[in-house]
Amino acid sequence: PIIYVVTPTYRRPEMVAELTRLGQTLTLVKRIHWIVAEDSLTCTAPITGLLQRLGLSYTHLASPMPEVYRKERYVPRGVSNRRAALEWVQEHGSDRGVLFFLDDDNAIDVRLFEEMRPTETVSMWPVGLIGDYTVSSPIVKDGKVVAFYDGWPAGRKFQVDMAGFAVNVGFLKKQKKVTMPYIAGHEEDGFLKSLGLSIKDIEVKADGCTKIYVWHTRTAKNPSRALKLEKHQNDNIKVLTDN
Ligand code: UGA
Ligand code: MN
Repeated sequence: PIIYVVTPTYRRPEMVAELTRLGQTLTLVKRIHWIVAEDSLTCTAPITGLLQRLGLSYTHLASPMPEVYRKERYVPRGVSNRRAALEWVQEHGSDRGVLFFLDDDNAIDVRLFEEMRPTETVSMWPVGLIGDYTVSSPIVKDGKVVAFYDGWPAGRKFQVDMAGFAVNVGFLKKQKKVTMPYIAGHEEDGFLKSLGLSIKDIEVKADGCTKIYVWHTRTAKNPSRALKLEKHQNDNIKVLTDN
């Protein structure tokens, strides 16, 4: 089965660095289709160039966050663009394929792809460097998920990070009301609930959820002062920083 890797991203100084790092990791993996979904009105030219050079199978989309959500105190990040990618997978994805959301500030061990490839409904595994507990993971008993270990329960049924699960595309297509809500912190839970998923049906990966193969590493933000300087010196940088 092919894996559809969905990466939401947006223009800022770290964008090319993040996508170069992730994209080059993905070139180590067979049967991958990378969907880079920008939170923007248009596709950013240096990213198109990167995608062409990598030699991966890819789709480059742009779908901006509606203005009304940008004004919220807790902004639901990467939803409009993930939704656009989701629609692409629903329309063009192979039923045997697998969908996986991988944010651009994550680091991944390529072994995770072979873990998720046989997913029949929804599979899960731990994610490192999440919140105060430093890991977010399903709790497994006798090979089944019985609860979640996560520093931010927030009343969620599925206390997981975006990079902590994969979905079979045939299963996804069978569900009638699949969506991701514009609610900060509840994107994963809302999406998994919209699949009509039961905790008992979750497939356990990464050695009974004992191994960490993906991390929410995060990249330090570059100060905007340095940015303005670069804008004057180099026109190529400008396109990455102007929204
Ligand atoms: C965390 C989770 O990792 C996200 O999956 C979840 O969507 C988010 O919380 C949330 O609850 O809103 P966090 O690390 O706080 O994300 O946010 P970012 O890493 O800045 O953004 C998540 C993804 O959306 C990234 O891939 C980022 O490139 C993208 N993003 C961010 C946009 O597309 N637009 C933005 O304005 C900001
Ligand atoms: Mn993040």
